[in-house]
Amino acid sequence: MNKKPFDQAVSLACDALAGLRENPAGPLPRASHASLERLVNAKAAPIAAAPTSTGSKAERLEALRAEIGDCCKCPHLVKSRSNLVFGVGDPEARLMFVGEAPGADEDLMGEPFVGKAGQLLTKIIEAMGFQRSEVYIANVLKCRPDMPPGESGNRKPRAEEMATCLPFLIRQIEIIEPQCLVALGATAMEGLLGEPVVMRDVRGRWHSFKGIPLMATYHPAYLLRNQSLTEKRKVWEDMLLVLERLGEPISARQRGFFLPK
Ligand code: URA
Repeated sequence: MNKKPFDQAVSLACDALAGLRENPAGPLPRASHASLERLVNAKAAPIAAAPTSTGSKAERLEALRAEIGDCCKCPHLVKSRSNLVFGVGDPEARLMFVGEAPGADEDLMGEPFVGKAGQLLTKIIEAMGFQRSEVYIANVLKCRPDMPPGESGNRKPRAEEMATCLPFLIRQIEIIEPQCLVALGATAMEGLLGEPVVMRDVRGRWHSFKGIPLMATYHPAYLLRNQSLTEKRKVWEDMLLVLERLGEPISARQRGFFLPK
């Protein structure tokens, strides 16, 4: 999808500003720098943004989204993204899922987990007895990791990209105050904890993120690649622990999902 002319101009402005910040005596004269700053700020700074500390959770999330605007912290990602993918769901959710970063579909739609892996996540959420709209879904990284020209697919977000973006996720979590967090995959877990993890070591037990119970489980994309009952059951057992923690009723049928017949 082609970027809108204004977004293109903002991307170019971000690039130019990044260059100027690295080299203040860069190629553009000061007047150009000032007008680029104005262009970026016009889009990045919200008009009369509401404070993120007052109001309902929905209003505070909206204010945070406005504050993030067209974030330019990672100019290389600004250049390649179509949309910044903030998050979706119920601001009052008791359960929040955290993925690693938007993929191609999410970048186009501006919503997390809408591609194949997202459709599987939605099925998992529904098997748990929730609607997708009743939980909250966000990623550690709000922009799609850029790919080398001509290459399709996704790359893992870099540690420094996740560290740059993490404060936004933390503020989302602080506003939503979910009773449980679920990290989808080792990269999401690494983004939250700031250190690499091995999924088989961390899944299936409780961790804590800023005092909130955190469950780690396999990314749905992993389940799409490994369709064995055993792997599906592992994810499901993690979700049963989450349901127990939330005090949700669990039917005998739910307890038996993905067990060998
Ligand atoms: N994978 C993720 O981690 N997040 C998305 O939004 C989509 C795929």
